[in-house]
Amino acid sequence: MNKPVVRVGVIGAGFVGSALIELLSDPSRHVALVDAATVPLEVVGVAVRDASKPRPGIAPELLTTDASHISEIDGLDILVELAGGIEPARTYIEAALNQGVSVVTANKALMAEAGTALAQLAHENGADLFYEAAVGGGIPILRALRTSLAGERIERVMGIVNGTTNFILSKMSSEGSDYADALAEAQSLGYAEADPTADVEAYDAAAKVLILSSLAFGTELSGEEISREGISGVRSIDVEFARRAGYVIKLLGVAERVGDHGISRRAHPTMVPVEHPLASVHGAMNAVFVEGTKSGPLMWLGQGAGGQTTATAVLGDVLDAARNRVSGRHDVPFSVDTTLHSVPAGDIASVFYISIDVIDRPGVLALVANVFGQHDVSIQSMEQSGVGDEARLSFVTHSAMTKDVHATITDLAKLEAVDSIGACIRVIAGGGE
Ligand SMILES: NC(=O)c1ccc[n+]([C@@H]2O[C@H](COP(=O)([O-])OP(=O)(O)OC[C@H]3O[C@@H](n4cnc5c(N)ncnc54)[C@H](OP(=O)(O)O)[C@@H]3O)[C@@H](O)[C@H]2O)c1
Repeated sequence: MNKPVVRVGVIGAGFVGSALIELLSDPSRHVALVDAATVPLEVVGVAVRDASKPRPGIAPELLTTDASHISEIDGLDILVELAGGIEPARTYIEAALNQGVSVVTANKALMAEAGTALAQLAHENGADLFYEAAVGGGIPILRALRTSLAGERIERVMGIVNGTTNFILSKMSSEGSDYADALAEAQSLGYAEADPTADVEAYDAAAKVLILSSLAFGTELSGEEISREGISGVRSIDVEFARRAGYVIKLLGVAERVGDHGISRRAHPTMVPVEHPLASVHGAMNAVFVEGTKSGPLMWLGQGAGGQTTATAVLGDVLDAARNRVSGRHDVPFSVDTTLHSVPAGDIASVFYISIDVIDRPGVLALVANVFGQHDVSIQSMEQSGVGDEARLSFVTHSAMTKDVHATITDLAKLEAVDSIGACIRVIAGGGE
């Protein structure tokens, strides 16, 4: 195909969109971009909500407040969607794909909700749909799974894929802060939203697990709820217990094989041994740890957010899509492996840390231990701490089925000698789970 230029339209010029346009129009990068795309790229339109905001670096004649106009631009090759949210972003993306226009997006919420259908639509229309920036900001993990590791059998993907929760847990760990103070600091520094639910209750991490799993294992990209536990129940005493035992608590997104045809996908707080590579990922950083059958362990580390960082990942996708336009081809998004089934979180075995507040009187330990025994959950170690109202029993179990541990917790909570269940957190071993 003889294409003198690839025409790019952008919806959204916020943190990521404005950084992308800056990168695309940086004269010092022009030759490198032409080399990578094989032809020059031309930005032919930029949609925003508010036309009156100053937009340095964007030619006023390119701006429109009618985003539907962008996908209708004559000869458009690539639509870059950086507005966020489900609608109207989905409508604009579908309109572009229906016309055979390739799409690049950073929209993890949309990909986790409608990714499979959008990928199918792209394929049917001979277009690309790339979404590298939807996971891990600037970390090129999706491309690595899609290309470098395409022939490898992946056993497990574990990621610290939410910078807000990693910032909060790092603060709790390094400064002994409690959860509320660490969250307030994250909000004051702009790392957490005023309503932090999507981050702290692990909705965001779960969406990213779906995306990672689709490329690592060929599971459906969207349409499924996966097991999700947030960090709002993690207490400073749990972080301190973990530290003394040689662990740090991290919110992990996990996708892993179970047997020959099972896949477990979930997001939850996890006690990670200090020697594990994920334990040294601090602050708002992200990391993805992949275990392949032949490749062994691999890890990618980087800033999971920020306009400029994220824009580098978007630009990589734009260049891939541009090369494909020039050569008249498109990438097959991913193939769904229909032999795989989702294994419920309850059927996954793990070591657990369980902490319970108890009434300080003789005989309580025997009652509690009895409940563990009734559910076949065997105890690896136990620590008794505090007196009076502060009395607490902390256990580390041997590997046990999650559903048995949850049944244990339910029955423990019914004991008159138990004041409250403080924590029930999975523990992983040095090289994996
Ligand atoms: N920021 C990050 O660090 C980061 C990291 C990873 C992924 N992402 C993803 O990247 C995407 C963009 O994030 P962002 O942080 O750049 O968001 P943002 O700063 O809020 O920017 C959103 C942009 O979209 C425009 N917009 C919103 N709705 C529109 C509509 N209906 N029509 C036309 N324009 C519209 C806004 O216009 P106005 O400027 O007029 O308001 C703004 O320019 C999101 O999907 C986000 O999840 C962001």
